[in-house]
Amino acid sequence: MTLKNSIIFFLFCLLLPGCQSSPGDGPPHKSPTLGQLADSAMVVSAHPLATEVGVIIMRKGGNAFDAAVAVQFALAVVYPRAGNIGGGGFAVFRLADGLAGSLDFREKAPAAASENMYLDQNEEVVTGLSLFGALATGVPGVVDGMVKLHDRYGKLGFAELVEPSIALARNGIRLTTGEARKFNDYRQQLIENNTYDIPVLKAQPWQEGDSLIQKELAQTLVRIRDQGRDGFYRGTTADLILIEMEKGNGIITHQDLENYEAIWREPLMGYYKDLKIISMPPPSSGGIALLQLLKGSEKFPFQEWGFRHSNTLHVMTELARRVYADRATYLGDPDFYPVPQQDLLDSLYLWERMSDIDLNTKTASSDIKEGQVEIIESIETTHFSIVDFYGNAVSITTTLNGNYGSKVMVEGAGFFLNNEMDDFSIKPGHPNQFGLVGSEANAIKPQKRMLSSMTPTIVEKNRQLFMVLGTNGGSTIITQIYQAILNVADFGMTMQEAVNVPRIH
Ligand code: GLY
Repeated sequence: MTLKNSIIFFLFCLLLPGCQSSPGDGPPHKSPTLGQLADSAMVVSAHPLATEVGVIIMRKGGNAFDAAVAVQFALAVVYPRAGNIGGGGFAVFRLADGLAGSLDFREKAPAAASENMYLDQNEEVVTGLSLFGALATGVPGVVDGMVKLHDRYGKLGFAELVEPSIALARNGIRLTTGEARKFNDYRQQLIENNTYDIPVLKAQPWQEGDSLIQKELAQTLVRIRDQGRDGFYRGTTADLILIEMEKGNGIITHQDLENYEAIWREPLMGYYKDLKIISMPPPSSGGIALLQLLKGSEKFPFQEWGFRHSNTLHVMTELARRVYADRATYLGDPDFYPVPQQDLLDSLYLWERMSDIDLNTKTASSDIKEGQVEIIESIETTHFSIVDFYGNAVSITTTLNGNYGSKVMVEGAGFFLNNEMDDFSIKPGHPNQFGLVGSEANAIKPQKRMLSSMTPTIVEKNRQLFMVLGTNGGSTIITQIYQAILNVADFGMTMQEAVNVPRIH
């Protein structure tokens, strides 16, 4: 957390055990209820080395955007289960002068994709096809996203931002307990989905403190450092991706890679009481769903009932049932489907939509179109939040979808390919890996972006930066962010307390 001019900037990284925060200038302070404090700037990410890279970049005079680009590349090296260059993500930002924006660098379906590509002749889903192997991969967006973010808002040279990641990959990192365990847990899947001995596996299980050197990834990062987007979407890296596609019956072509463009989008803005919420629009479902939940909550006296009161929990559950049912039906890539964004956020619509919530009656989820699945706050995907000395704030959630994505590591290039195609509705009503169902709005179409739950969010209070939020967790991302905001706004918690308490989904 950052204390500046007596305005409290809250940054946090929900539920990530490796979550680190670092101050820009002064020594770090830690408070049991407030968490980490800093006096001028902060980086929060899932890995201490990535956080350190962000801090170093800001100490060199970089701003929050420079730091964000550097952290994204660093996470691809030190946190390969979700940090990536073979995946996608979203950035929501707020400049020091209050201007807000967002960048969509979500993956896209390849041009050869089709609605039935994961179904057999009987139109049944072929188990695993959208999750494992090259066919599960959408056209990656991270590198173009980082180049665009830097071109528009960066201060330092692009090469300087990639350099620390090259050093981490080339010189090696000591594995944390979490990274060692994760590689070991996924060992079998990583072997099964690759045609060669991938460099992040060795004969014996990994131990905490083992050194991981990633020479091929370093070379890929050098190409990106020297050639920008062409270092990934053309030339050697693109050729290596294509070879991987051929080996695994994938359908991404050179043209798909060359055509990929991240898109600047108007961020979603709305209010919850005196808080202004700035979040990600479609193709993320996060912003709309979060605002629906918050606006729907205004109808109920949560503050009076209190945290974890049975009425509070009951109403939160009922609100989420309705919001996720809307998500399943109406949300998808706005470039392909007319998402009724204004209607879904209309106060009257929400008032009526939530009006049948009864304090004594539990609605059956099946009555409002939702699968009965066990939901956990999964550790796939990762988030980082940065505020710089100038007051710029950047909130980025980035993902390969599953841990290590499709489990395919591009031979000779050292990075994992995403399995984001599973975020499409591969068959109407068929739940994806997070238990989310969908329909026409999120059906597969060539070059369409798959619906996401990632919810990078920034909150203002009294026109000042107040919170920078985001998290991993698949379908629970939205309800995690929702409850964190309520915990602070309605239940009087500090951000650290808001993160520490249990949540419901
Ligand atoms: N891949 C998880 C999400 O985008 O929601």
